[in-house]
Amino acid sequence: MRRIHVVALGCQMSVADGGELARPLIERGLRPVASLGEADVLVLNTCTVRQHAEDKAVSMIGRLKTWKDDDPERVLIVAGCAAERLGGLLLSRFPHIDLVVGAKSLDDYPRLVEEALAHRFDHPGETREGFHGEAAPNTPFGWASPVVAQVTIMRGCNYSCAYCIVPQVRGRESYRAPGTILADVGAKAAVGAREIVLLGQTVNSWHGRDEAGRAWRFADLLRAVAAVPGVLRVRFESPHPHFVDDELIEALATTPGLCGHLHLPLQSGSDRLLKRMRRNYTAASFLEKVARLKAALPSIEVSTDIIVGLPSETGDDFARTLEAVESLRPAWAYTFKYSPREGTQAAGWPDDVPVDVKEERLARLNALCDAYNDEAMRARIGKTVSVLDETGGYGRTKDGFRVKWDAPGEPGRELLIRVTGSSKRTLLGEYER
Ligand code: 5AD
Ligand code: SF4
Repeated sequence: MRRIHVVALGCQMSVADGGELARPLIERGLRPVASLGEADVLVLNTCTVRQHAEDKAVSMIGRLKTWKDDDPERVLIVAGCAAERLGGLLLSRFPHIDLVVGAKSLDDYPRLVEEALAHRFDHPGETREGFHGEAAPNTPFGWASPVVAQVTIMRGCNYSCAYCIVPQVRGRESYRAPGTILADVGAKAAVGAREIVLLGQTVNSWHGRDEAGRAWRFADLLRAVAAVPGVLRVRFESPHPHFVDDELIEALATTPGLCGHLHLPLQSGSDRLLKRMRRNYTAASFLEKVARLKAALPSIEVSTDIIVGLPSETGDDFARTLEAVESLRPAWAYTFKYSPREGTQAAGWPDDVPVDVKEERLARLNALCDAYNDEAMRARIGKTVSVLDETGGYGRTKDGFRVKWDAPGEPGRELLIRVTGSSKRTLLGEYER
């Protein structure tokens, strides 16, 4: 039997897409395997959000030449955001690639993959619905816990943040209908999913209309997903601050099962830079929203993304970022050095913050963020937390902290774990019950 392996670089959306890309091949009879060496087909889903991510994809493709040479029958499929941006360039530079499918062509993918494989393996093809149709249950992959299921609810982004390449490679927003999403959630819950992660580039800009013609907003969807039988927890990634409104805050505060964590990208604390970035909020309005959220749900934890070294960032702009982080006190943060992306508005500005200054700012920002993370982790030591066991001995708290403990594990159940210590952003604990 032919075997398939998936490697997904980048964000959760890329991981979820990796599963989707494998699905028509699994339906065709290929068996998922956990290592490249065993595989006849490799789907590499790529990322291009920063230059580093794209370089990683390109160097991996280069190294895959030996994998392909070992058995020329093997099939290499390169998909995702870097594939969208680099397209034909990849095919001409790396003739060992069999198929390139950009992130905008997902709806065409089943047909493209059929064509690419038509002369390779002699199974008849099966048709499959596109992104907007009914989705099948969770793809059984080694890297994906069946307890946590990702459900993409929208694709693309209608924003045009000056630094960001996502709108270019993923296109305008499109939304799945509420009924389709709920059917997908129900199917995943029926095969054991207990935590649903709703995914979208600006996930909370989602809206839709049901068959009865009723308009749905993101908060309505959250409540409906949380009410699906079997679903214990609901998360979503990643919201845009602009669409965090009173309705969403109320849903977060009042819906059982909604996880007490929000990842809210701040990007910068300087109003001048936020404006240049076209983020559509100020540091004060961002912090005011978080304050409203915390007033409604005092236990909520907020994490964030921050970019340092945007063109023209001064020491004063950076000081505003540190101040905003001090007010926000994020539970954790993903911090990035600005990376110019061709075709974005910011790429037309001189990349004038010297590398050593970017690095020095990043180190200072990381030290501050690490201190808040340490504080949040330490506050949990000695306490008993509720953890959804994902893989037997590993899971997360409602507010998003990773936890490891010694067995017994019971994947799919919420367990009480007494926290005894921490190591590298993960809490360590003992099973209570
Ligand atoms: N340079 C650095 N970081 C970036 N991000 C997006 N584009 C860039 C870029 N050009 C960061 C943002 C975003 C996260 C996913 O990646 O912080 O929230
Ligand atoms: Fe990029 Fe801004 Fe869209 Fe997020 S909201 S994907 S940062 S353009």
